[in-house]
Amino acid sequence: MSSNREKIAELNESFATLELPDALSKLRELFSGKVTLSSSLGPEDQVITDSIFCNDLDIDIFTLDTGRLFAESYDVLDKTVRKYEQNIQVYYPNTDAIEDYVFKKGINAIYDSTNLRKECCFIRKIEPLNRALEGVEVWITGLRGGQSNYRSNMNLFEWDEERNLIKFNPLLTWSTEDIWHYINIYEVPYNELHKKGFPSIGCQPCTRAIGLHENERAGRWWWEEEDKKECGLHATEKQKSA
Ligand code: ADX
Ligand code: SF4
Repeated sequence: MSSNREKIAELNESFATLELPDALSKLRELFSGKVTLSSSLGPEDQVITDSIFCNDLDIDIFTLDTGRLFAESYDVLDKTVRKYEQNIQVYYPNTDAIEDYVFKKGINAIYDSTNLRKECCFIRKIEPLNRALEGVEVWITGLRGGQSNYRSNMNLFEWDEERNLIKFNPLLTWSTEDIWHYINIYEVPYNELHKKGFPSIGCQPCTRAIGLHENERAGRWWWEEEDKKECGLHATEKQKSA
C-alpha cells in the first residue's frame, strides 16, 4: 500500500487540470468515505457550494457559527439554503466552554492578547471544526494561494497530519477575478459586505473593511502582526514555523 505522501502526490498529479465540477465528481468516485466542505459562506466556499448543489453531488456542507458573525453572513446562509433547497449543517461552540471563557476573560478579551484571541478561536472555531470533521475522509476547503504567503505554499491535496484526513483545496489557483466571474455568471448568493470594502469576512469583532491598496486579508485580526493572522483552522503553529 502506498504511503499517505505518495497517495497525495498521485492525487495532485491526476487532478491538476480538472475543472471544478469534474474534480468534485471524481473525488466522490474515488473515495467511499465521507467527503465534506467546510464553508465560511465566503465567495470561494459559495462557488464550491454552487458546484456541489447544482451537480447533486453526495458531499456534505457545514459551517461554523461562532456566535459572533455579521448579520449579513447569516443572510448568505439563509439565501443559499433557500435557493438550492438543500441544507447546510451548522455547528456551534461548546456552551460550557464559551460561558466560562466570557465569564472569566470578558466578552472582548480577544483584543487583550494574542493568546486570549487564540483561545476564543479555539473555543468558537477549532473545537467545533474538529467535531464536524470526525469520521470525514476528505475535507474540502475554499483556500486560495493568493490569500497569503502561507497559503501560496499549499497544494491542491494535502495530508492533514493532526486530523488524519485528506484536505482538498480545489480553488487553490483561482484568482479573485475568477471567483467573482463565476459568482456573477451563475448568480450565486454572496455577502452584501463585499460591496462595502470587506473582501475577506470572518467574525464581526475581528474583521474590518480594507483601504485602497491594502491586501485582501488586511482587515482580518488587523491589530496583530502579519504572521499571526491565522486562527488555527488551517495552519498550526508547527506548520507555520516549518
Ligand atoms: S480563516 O482561517 O482566516 O478564518 P478564511 O476565512 O480565509 O479562514 O477561510 C478559509 C477556509 O476556511 C474557508 O474556505 C473554509 O473552508 C474554512 N472556514 C473558515 N471559516 C469557516 C467557518 N466559519 N465555517 C466553516 N469553515 C470555515
Ligand atoms: Fe473569537 Fe475573533 Fe476568533 Fe471569532 S475570529 S473566534 S471572535 S477571536
